[in-house]
Amino acid sequence: GVAIQISPSILSADFARLADEAAAVPNADWLHVDVMDGHFVPNLTLGLPVVESLARATDTPLDCHLMIEDPDRWAPAYAEAGAGSVTVHAKAARAPVRTLREIRRLGARAGLALNPAEPVEPYADLVGEMDMLLLMTVEPGFGGQRFLDLVLPKIRRAREILDGREASVWLQVDGGVGDDTIERAAEAGADVFVAGSAVYGAQDPSKAVDSLRARAAA
Ligand code: DX5
Ligand code: ZN
Repeated sequence: GVAIQISPSILSADFARLADEAAAVPNADWLHVDVMDGHFVPNLTLGLPVVESLARATDTPLDCHLMIEDPDRWAPAYAEAGAGSVTVHAKAARAPVRTLREIRRLGARAGLALNPAEPVEPYADLVGEMDMLLLMTVEPGFGGQRFLDLVLPKIRRAREILDGREASVWLQVDGGVGDDTIERAAEAGADVFVAGSAVYGAQDPSKAVDSLRARAAA
């Protein structure tokens, strides 16, 4: 089967102790960093200076999820700041092909994100330009929302589209992923799982990562 990867979202961590919170999940494959600008989504989090500092403070690669306007302008700087992966939202990008190529040229993995209501079919011909497709399983903006089961058929269609290509493109889900929902997402074909409240809301974040990984692999 596919390799399961877990990407804990620091949106649910203590922002005053980010290095410690990163160290609390040494078994994570990635650290998911939600960059929100208060315009593309109605919430404001952190930006480049924090990503630069966090990249120096942890060995875990950063999975930067840009929920911002004009990602074409800003995404390359996140790759340069040391992110291992940079994901932009399809509907925010004016030149997604150019931006995905620029992210790759700067040495990071390039991701494209779709909101729950956005179909995957229009992007089928772009899969060669990306290393990861992110399907949001909540409306972006906040942690702790309920997983939207209505996205499951799209996860299945995306898995079929990706399997039909030679390049291996990861299929990430983000939003409402926890012990009770991860199996459905995995069964539908996702292989990279973002989890915020399910990890940082747990007594033992590292154990929560192990638990999610075990359930996704089941
Ligand atoms: C939401 C963010 C998510 C968020 C997920 O817009 O993109 O990464 O942190 O949080 P949970 O896992 O609590 O739904
Ligand atoms: Zn996210």
